[in-house]
Amino acid sequence: MDGKATDKKIIFSGIQPSGALTLGSYLGAIKNWVTLSETYDCRYCIVDMHALTSRQNPAELRRRAIDQLAQYIACGLDPEKSIIFIQSHVPAHAELAWVLNCYTMFGELSRMTQFKDKSAKNTDNINAGLFTYPVLMAADILLYQTDLVPVGEDQKQHVEICRDIAGRFNGIYGDVFRLPEPFIPKVGARIMSLTSPESKMSKSDEDPGGCIYVMQKPDEIMRAFKRAVTDSGGAVRFDPVQKPGVSNLMQIYSAAAGLSFEQIESEFEGRGYGDFKLRLGEAVVELLRPIREEAERLAADRAHLESVYRQGAEKASRAAEKTLRKVYRKIGFIEKKDVPSCPSIRN
Ligand code: TRP
Repeated sequence: MDGKATDKKIIFSGIQPSGALTLGSYLGAIKNWVTLSETYDCRYCIVDMHALTSRQNPAELRRRAIDQLAQYIACGLDPEKSIIFIQSHVPAHAELAWVLNCYTMFGELSRMTQFKDKSAKNTDNINAGLFTYPVLMAADILLYQTDLVPVGEDQKQHVEICRDIAGRFNGIYGDVFRLPEPFIPKVGARIMSLTSPESKMSKSDEDPGGCIYVMQKPDEIMRAFKRAVTDSGGAVRFDPVQKPGVSNLMQIYSAAAGLSFEQIESEFEGRGYGDFKLRLGEAVVELLRPIREEAERLAADRAHLESVYRQGAEKASRAAEKTLRKVYRKIGFIEKKDVPSCPSIRN
C-alpha cells in the first residue's frame, strides 16, 4: 500500500488538530473519505504543522492530535486500507515546503482569500507561516503524486495554487509532480454554523453554540439543536436562499438519517420547527454515539494508537522521500546518501 503499489488514483487530504473535530468535518469530509478509501489509494493526514499558524497550547495540541487519530479510526477510516499519519512525523513535508517556497511568488500568496480573512481576524499574529500556509499544503499534496484532493469549497483556491506551483516547477525541471485536481463533494456536505448559517461550521467559530462536536455528549447536542437559528415562516422546506437556517438543518438531517430533502419535507409537513429540531437532535445523537464510544475506547489504548501512527509515518515517508529525492536531484542538491553523519537519512 505504499507509494504506487496499485494503479488506483491517489488521494490526499487532511484536517488540522486546531480544535475538536466537528460534525461539519465528519459529514463534510471524513464520511466521504471513508467511501473514497474503498476505491482509491488514500492518505489522510493530521496536519499539526498547519495548526501552528495560530497559537496553540502545547499539551492541548498533543492531546488533540492523538484524539483526532482515534476519531479518524472511529469514523471508519481503516489504517490497513489507507495511510493515516501525523504531518510532523514525516519531515519531507517541511523540506519540500521550503523548496516550494522558492517557487512561489509573494504576489500570488498575497491574493489568497484565506490569508486575507485570517490576517484580518487575527491582527496580533499575522505570522509568516500563515502567509506560506498554502505552500506547505502544496508540499503535502505533491509529495504523494496525488491525483485528487477532497476538500471543501473554501480550500479550492489552495489546490489551485498548488497546481500553479507544480506547473511552474515542472516547467523548469520536467515532469516531477503530478497535477492534482480538487475533489469537491456534491451539495449536502457543506455544513454551516447552527447560529450563523451564512458561515461554515468551524471549530474556530467564536460562538460555541454554532458548532456540534463529534465527541459531544447527547444532552449538549440536543441543546445546541434546540437553539439553532431557523427562518421566518414555519415550514420545513429546502430553500438555501430564503431559508438558510432550516436548509442547513435539513442538510444535516439528510446526511444523518439518509433521507432526501423531499422525504424530510413530507415527514414534517404541517409540523413546526420544534418537532423537526427535536428529531434532528436525536438523529445526530444516534449518528455520533457509536463514533464517540469507539473513539473513547481507542483513546484509552494509547499503545495501539502509537503503533498506528508509527506505521502510518513509515508508509508515508517511503512515498514522500521518493519525491523529495527527485526534487533535490533536479534542483541541484548533492545526494544525502553520501553524507553518513546526516541525521535525516531515513532509508
Ligand atoms: N488547509 C486544509 C483545511 O484547513 C487542511 C490541509 C492541509 C489540507 N494540508 C492539506 C487539505 C492537504 C487537503 C490537502 O481544511
